[in-house]
Amino acid sequence: MKILIVGSGGREHALAWKIKQSSKVEELFIAPGNPGTAKLGTNISITKTEEIIDWLKENEVDLVLIGPDNYLADGIVDEIQKMEIAVFGPTKDASEIEWSKSFAKQFMQEEGIPTARFKVFNSFEEANKYIETQNFPLVIKASGLALGKGVIIAQTFEEAKKTLEEIMTTKIFGDAGDEVVIEEFLVGKEISTHAFCDGENVSMFPASQDHKTIFEGDKGPNTGGMGTIAPVPWVTEEHMKAIENQIVRPTINALKKRGRPFKGVLFPGIMITESGPKVIEFNARFGDPETESYMRILKTDLVDILLTCVDGKLNEQKIEWENFSACTVMCASGGYPGSYEKGKVIGGLDNLEKDVVVFHAGTKEINGEIVTNGGRVLGISAIGSDLNEALSKAYGSIEKVSFDGMQFRKDIGAKSI
Ligand SMILES: Nc1ncnc2c1ncn2[C@@H]1O[C@H](COP(=O)(O)OP(=O)(O)O)[C@@H](O)[C@H]1O
Ligand SMILES: [Mg+2]
Repeated sequence: MKILIVGSGGREHALAWKIKQSSKVEELFIAPGNPGTAKLGTNISITKTEEIIDWLKENEVDLVLIGPDNYLADGIVDEIQKMEIAVFGPTKDASEIEWSKSFAKQFMQEEGIPTARFKVFNSFEEANKYIETQNFPLVIKASGLALGKGVIIAQTFEEAKKTLEEIMTTKIFGDAGDEVVIEEFLVGKEISTHAFCDGENVSMFPASQDHKTIFEGDKGPNTGGMGTIAPVPWVTEEHMKAIENQIVRPTINALKKRGRPFKGVLFPGIMITESGPKVIEFNARFGDPETESYMRILKTDLVDILLTCVDGKLNEQKIEWENFSACTVMCASGGYPGSYEKGKVIGGLDNLEKDVVVFHAGTKEINGEIVTNGGRVLGISAIGSDLNEALSKAYGSIEKVSFDGMQFRKDIGAKSI
């Protein structure tokens, strides 16, 4: 088969790495890809939805896999479906559950899916009046896609008011801030969950956990994610059954009933609270950097899974996960998630330990050298018989990798040991 993966991050490198292991793959293309994916297939330097559609008109492929959320919100899946090419990912309508937080919250309320109490506002005056009546901390979210930066946990009324002004009046997130969701602050432990979905059937992944803030001890501003573990040792079978039965299945059933069948990966961010799991948000795609850990422990051929989801036959597909652990530690540019410099030469990528894979995120090749080209630069991913072993391999290898200003968190997975 000929397969196209859309995207350029660590997630897409990890998906390409796994797909390349399938005996079904004849040719692999990645648009636009990165220096890591270039070693596994052919990078095509196009990024816009229209460019990808045009490329598909001229190049025959059997399956397309969409990585990032913005393409889903753009309706790329709908366009590819019209061309009668198999495509893994939800349609624009099905992915609204990610690209509109106000839609997702109203959907959960109507369907009785556990989530934080909330209200949606379109006007600054009304939102401001509402926060005067609330306790703090209070969570304020721009409704649209905001590159993972549109959520602020306000500790005081003053902070909440300033945040509302920035989002709704100054519009620091553009149109994404036309609507805001204001919600209750949930106390608990946060995990990431994923499920393969074929519109009707679901298959849960093991739980994973991201580490969102830039500094150790969950301090500092949020990033795209600084590292993941999978599975999460303290998450029980009972937790996973509750998430499947109270959250994932009702969501997939309700989307189908509403004429928006969801095919792809549903990724609910979950807070495990005293009163059970609650949805923080829905994502409509593989997580990044969750996928970098997940692909290390997925046993079944990923191409088989993707095809059965597209065909609506997930119930006929057995999906197996290895019984060992994986972790991924992200190396980021100095200054990230604020402003940072690019073009720093990366050293030490060769001769890493066995069981360690480096997934490229923001890198670029210039004259045969790999240099930094983004905030999150590389994911150092390791496996081990347990989490401890995986972490010690990843941290053993990260010491060999270097670039000017490199920062990484030394406490990935530490809370789970
Ligand atoms: N209601 C809430 N209570 C506590 N923390 C929250 C709540 N909503 C979001 N968060 C925190 O903020 C982060 C980002 O929020 P999320 O809704 O996942 O938005 P996005 O990923 O689009 O930025 C979450 O990962 C979580 O740590
Ligand atoms: Mg999130």
